[in-house]
Amino acid sequence: AAAHYAPAIVVGSGYGAAVAALRLGRAGVRTVVLEMGRLWETPGSDGKVFPSTSAPDQRSMWFRTRTEAPLAQFLWLDVVNRDISPYPGVLDRVNYGDMSVYVGRGVGGGSLVNGGMAPTPRRAYFSEMLPRVDADEMYGTYYPLARAMLGVNDIDPAWFESTEWYRFARTSRKHAQNTGLKTVFVPNVYDFAHMKAEAAGTAPRSALAGEVIYGNNHGKKSVDKTYLAAALGTGNVTIETLQRVVAVRPDPAGGYVLTVRSIDLAGRVTGTRELGCAQLFLGAGSLGTTEILLRARETGALPLLSEKVGLGWGHNGNVMTARANHLWDTVGADQSTMPALGIDDWDNAANPVFAEIAPLPMGFEHWISMYLAITRNPERGSFTYDAATDSARLNWRRDQNTPSVNAAKNLFDRINRRNVTVYRHDLFGGNRAFADNFTYHPLGGCVLGDATDDFGRAKGHPGLYVVDGSLVPGSLGVNPFVTITALAERNMARILAQDPR
Ligand code: FDA
Repeated sequence: AAAHYAPAIVVGSGYGAAVAALRLGRAGVRTVVLEMGRLWETPGSDGKVFPSTSAPDQRSMWFRTRTEAPLAQFLWLDVVNRDISPYPGVLDRVNYGDMSVYVGRGVGGGSLVNGGMAPTPRRAYFSEMLPRVDADEMYGTYYPLARAMLGVNDIDPAWFESTEWYRFARTSRKHAQNTGLKTVFVPNVYDFAHMKAEAAGTAPRSALAGEVIYGNNHGKKSVDKTYLAAALGTGNVTIETLQRVVAVRPDPAGGYVLTVRSIDLAGRVTGTRELGCAQLFLGAGSLGTTEILLRARETGALPLLSEKVGLGWGHNGNVMTARANHLWDTVGADQSTMPALGIDDWDNAANPVFAEIAPLPMGFEHWISMYLAITRNPERGSFTYDAATDSARLNWRRDQNTPSVNAAKNLFDRINRRNVTVYRHDLFGGNRAFADNFTYHPLGGCVLGDATDDFGRAKGHPGLYVVDGSLVPGSLGVNPFVTITALAERNMARILAQDPR
């Protein structure tokens, strides 16, 4: 048995973990949250918590000597990335051969770095992906609950139509409409009232100052400000930072023992300890949770785990692309970093695509229309445990992106043809028009109903739960965090009502 003990431990502090922490705290369960990143609360020497996007410093990325931004180039020049010193920065890029995955690091996980887009999937597609989940309950109860808790809000359409900050989106909308395509407003967790005040000069700028992937200093309702603040408010939850969970084993006396490694801001290991708990909730994200469970199964620590742990991974069909507009179709030097509009062609059965109209805020007019396409890709990857490095490796081949690239190309070829425009090849490296070598939406690895039961209970080991994006089987058709949150709410309600504590 371990020297230190907590009734419940939550690993990670992103969406799923934050829901688990709040619901445990509200149920009166003393809970410790272990997060490998830092708490983003204290301003640096520049007076800001997060670094600027145009001149990123050590706070930008997780232990790097140079930043690795998704758009590495402009006009084929490496003008975007900067040398930095290694530090537990807020954005990580995990490189697995043919596929790189961006994730957030710190209290709040991905909510610290993401674009805040908060759509709810098509009900029919949700049911196709998660057929054993009661959709009435999700759409009637847990989606509305998640949206309210996360602070999801809508842009004021009149302001959208008039502001310079969304000219880029209106230009892309015009080209989509010329092509006979439908666009929709996409809700967000960035406070649009704050954004309006930024534009009016009455609030400090964040979305209107280029901030997003290295953190927003204002305006964004990340889960540290919503779920986790409420969890701490119960008085039952504590959060420990710079604590990485590296191993899990059963406690012969019941429950689990975690091996936890603490680091300092230079990345030096300052200690390794064991922590015991009765109930263990894994919210380390698709990559983190899958790695913890795969390692435990393959090293024999948790031998009864399902053979399905490590399977069913997908990138939600993510592909980025960009078009060059005519000189008269300006996108504006001023661009909000929070997307507010999407091209919604998901009901086109022959070629379903939901493409978010993405900003490219460079502070000058560049005539580029940028998109993050979410496509329906049936391919799935898997993780294998590599004993030599004691880590999980993602097996995903480049050609598994073909359905996604083809679908995006089909849609944007139509838009280009109709508007007599062309792709940009200078933005993603390698002279490519489609960026299919990275994703923002890692999903799966411990799929609901496969690696776990229908509520996230790990098969074979009672008291062990998965609460994050690793439950989602690789594809949702829209940006995923509202669904991850709603599923966690649903599963936690069942677990707290039924399971012994
Ligand atoms: P999440 O990844 O949020 O949290 C996991 C946490 O666990 C992290 O804080 C991590 O540091 C920690 N951790 C991992 N391993 C650990 C270990 N061994 N020990 C301790 N802690 C550990 N989605 C969306 O819906 N709308 C959007 O607009 C966007 N945009 C977007 C932009 C960018 C740049 C990124 C990177 C991502 C997005 N996303 C998004 C995706 C979204 O952020 C993502 O789906 C969720 O954050 C996933 O939530 P989870 O709860 O699964 O884990």
